[in-house]
Amino acid sequence: MQAARHRLPAAKWDLEIVQMLKHGQVLVISGMTGCGKTTQVPQFILDASLKSKTGQVANILCTQPRRISAMSVAERVADERAEKLGGIVGYQIRLESVMSTRTRLLFCTTGILLRRLESDPTLQGVTHILIDEVHERSEDSDFLMMVVRNLLPQRYDLKVILMSATLDAGLFSAYFNDCPRLEIPGRTFPVEQYFLEDVIEMTGYHLDERSPFARPLKRMNAAPKAGVSTRLPTDDIIDEIEQATNAVAPRHSLQDQNLTPKQLVARYPGIYNKLTLKTLAMIDFDKINNELIELLLEWIVDGPHQYPREGAVLVFLPGLAEIKQVYELLLTNPVFGGRNKSRFWILPLHSTLSSEDQHRVFSTPPKGTTKIVLTTNIAETSITIDDVVYVIDSGRMKEKRYDASKSMESLDLVWESKANAQQRKGRAGRVASGVAFHLFTSHRHDYHMKPQPIPEIQRVPLEQLILRIKILDLFDNMQDVLSQLIEPPADIGIETAKSRLQDLGALDLDKNLTPLGYHLASLPVDVRIGKLMLFGAIFRCLDSALTIAATLSYRSPFVSPFDKRNEADKCKLDFAIGNSDHLTMLNAYKSWIKAQKDGSQAAFRFCQENFLSIKTMQMLATMKHQFTELLSDIGFIREGILCRDLERKFRGSDGVLAVTGQEANVHNDNMKLLSAILVAALFPNVVQIKTPEAKYSKTGEGAVARLPKPEELRFSTKSDGYVSIHPSSVNFQVRYYDSPYLVYHEKIKTTKVYIRDCSMVSVYPLLLFGGCIIAIDLDRNDFIMSVDEGWIRFKAANQEVAELVRELRLELNQLLR
Ligand code: CDP
Ligand code: MG
Repeated sequence: MQAARHRLPAAKWDLEIVQMLKHGQVLVISGMTGCGKTTQVPQFILDASLKSKTGQVANILCTQPRRISAMSVAERVADERAEKLGGIVGYQIRLESVMSTRTRLLFCTTGILLRRLESDPTLQGVTHILIDEVHERSEDSDFLMMVVRNLLPQRYDLKVILMSATLDAGLFSAYFNDCPRLEIPGRTFPVEQYFLEDVIEMTGYHLDERSPFARPLKRMNAAPKAGVSTRLPTDDIIDEIEQATNAVAPRHSLQDQNLTPKQLVARYPGIYNKLTLKTLAMIDFDKINNELIELLLEWIVDGPHQYPREGAVLVFLPGLAEIKQVYELLLTNPVFGGRNKSRFWILPLHSTLSSEDQHRVFSTPPKGTTKIVLTTNIAETSITIDDVVYVIDSGRMKEKRYDASKSMESLDLVWESKANAQQRKGRAGRVASGVAFHLFTSHRHDYHMKPQPIPEIQRVPLEQLILRIKILDLFDNMQDVLSQLIEPPADIGIETAKSRLQDLGALDLDKNLTPLGYHLASLPVDVRIGKLMLFGAIFRCLDSALTIAATLSYRSPFVSPFDKRNEADKCKLDFAIGNSDHLTMLNAYKSWIKAQKDGSQAAFRFCQENFLSIKTMQMLATMKHQFTELLSDIGFIREGILCRDLERKFRGSDGVLAVTGQEANVHNDNMKLLSAILVAALFPNVVQIKTPEAKYSKTGEGAVARLPKPEELRFSTKSDGYVSIHPSSVNFQVRYYDSPYLVYHEKIKTTKVYIRDCSMVSVYPLLLFGGCIIAIDLDRNDFIMSVDEGWIRFKAANQEVAELVRELRLELNQLLR
């Protein structure tokens, strides 16, 4: 290990780095991935301080973008020093730390350091901060750089090192007052690069003879249609589909519809005629990606080619789900599974992997065994696997985006940028020359891919960030803070975020943090989801609140197949409850949990029969667990309850967390309460039934004056005027209104402005849980509240009621304090 350390490109720069740090406070170090930045630079500093005569041992914090890299790097460094982890070298990630009072070099996630700054704003006792992988430009890392930049004048003895894989070191150096830079020159081996069209040519024999989706190709070869080329198109297949789609249905592009080509063709049959047969043969794109990967792997290990037979294969996939799919494909493939099983190590690599599982990823397999690592973009820069010779790049990754219709974050499947492709390719040339296969055409690469990924801070809503700045209490003037970021977001985004925070009650009218805002700042979820979680705990309907929170932040479990829409809608209405789409989803979820009592088969059937997605259900269950952990993290769930809950979780969970948390769940089935806390979360997304005005009101014993037809009803918001309820909502056909107010989650504009999932709510929760009350006019018993970029006026029955509302609001505030 020592010999390997000395061979690393970084090894030669030991003294230089220590020298440069003597003279300046900040240093930017860049160098190719794998050159030894993360593992070596902190050790140079530590060793220099151990050898120095002053006797002051350095206390180093090194941040990593992901939990798994913090753990694996700490372990590696401890090994290199023949130390036990948790001694001089340790790590700390959320809910897990291996460190002690002896620890002098701590690897932690960026989030952990930001959390620490809340209680220890000057980082007492820390001598060096290393911010690693700054080029990734995550929201956390950009934010941390800003905070540290502000800290420097107060802590003139603190040294800061920024480390980056790519070469845009100039940007970071400029940000820190043109601080010195050091570039570690690396050695690389040449990597041959192939794109989709080449891959299909190269593996072509598979396509013709063995692949299931090659059959249409064969038929086509037998009787070629006049005018249709039998050669594979070298330009982008997706482009072709996109063009065809545009011709048939101009407003729908692949991207904004989020449909696979197959679904598109099903929806717009006209596209079919516009595509070449070759493309049609490949139209199941998700599948082809996975199957093409399978074929390519077969070809690499067994096919006729001149490339080395030794060496590991690294496959870049967008996420855990795709990793699982390919993994399963390979296990059932006779080339890799069955008798041949011992010839291969097929290893998943992703952020939720345990540290034992990671080990084999870094180990060298015995001779004659090929290591195939299926990874997310985690292996792009933060984790280095040395013996990779082949890279297969699916071209996709998951990226946080801002979904304007929900004003919420979403995790989208997107094409990578050219910089990502370049980096992925480079992973094949670590120890010898290698080969990279990109599963997109050169045309897409050259003409459609962005040069660089967009920094996260410009893609996400800013509410969380604003709250975190408030809580850090480091900055006097809020106005200027965000503009101090390395590449600040647009002003308009900042303003919208602030007013949304006021509406939610996280900031008061003077833009000061409220007690609620304080708690929301420490929950790393969308502020509205956070509010729902907190209120669920306070009002003891936690389990149901978390289910709703999960559906809001992920998606509805109801599916509506194109050809069975009516049937599906009917099924949904069977679950309908409380004039609320949200409670209806909750109801379906609970029924699914019940169905599980009869075994997983029964639960599966239940979902199929009721047009529910079992995958979504499982995802919701997982999210609920994560939410519970977050709440316990900030001490919002009493320990006794949670410990037992988590115990269940780690024993293989069934998605239920209600059982042990009885106390937290006594009001789980109180629909009125649940719809009230929905108001808390979704406010100010409120619409009011406007016309025909008099007709929603009751006239005595449950009778209704005249039931309006759905199309007669209009719902108004201030900003969009009239909106309509989406036909998929349970409120679309509703015949009985006991309140003129609806809260909604998502507003979309197609032919009309629609609100999609919505819940009918009464006035009192609006008054009690809604955000800022702009004015209270106690003489006239009026409240004026801002909603959905406008305002509504409520009239309380008398002064007593008005007083009561005011008092209750104060009390809730007090409770959160
Ligand atoms: O940070 P950078 O990408 O420059 O490199 P590094 O993470 O410090 O890795 C330097 C070398 O250490 C790699 O090339 C690997 O050979 C080795 N390493 C390892 O074997 N196991 C680890 N968990 C981490 C690094
Ligand atoms: Mg590194």
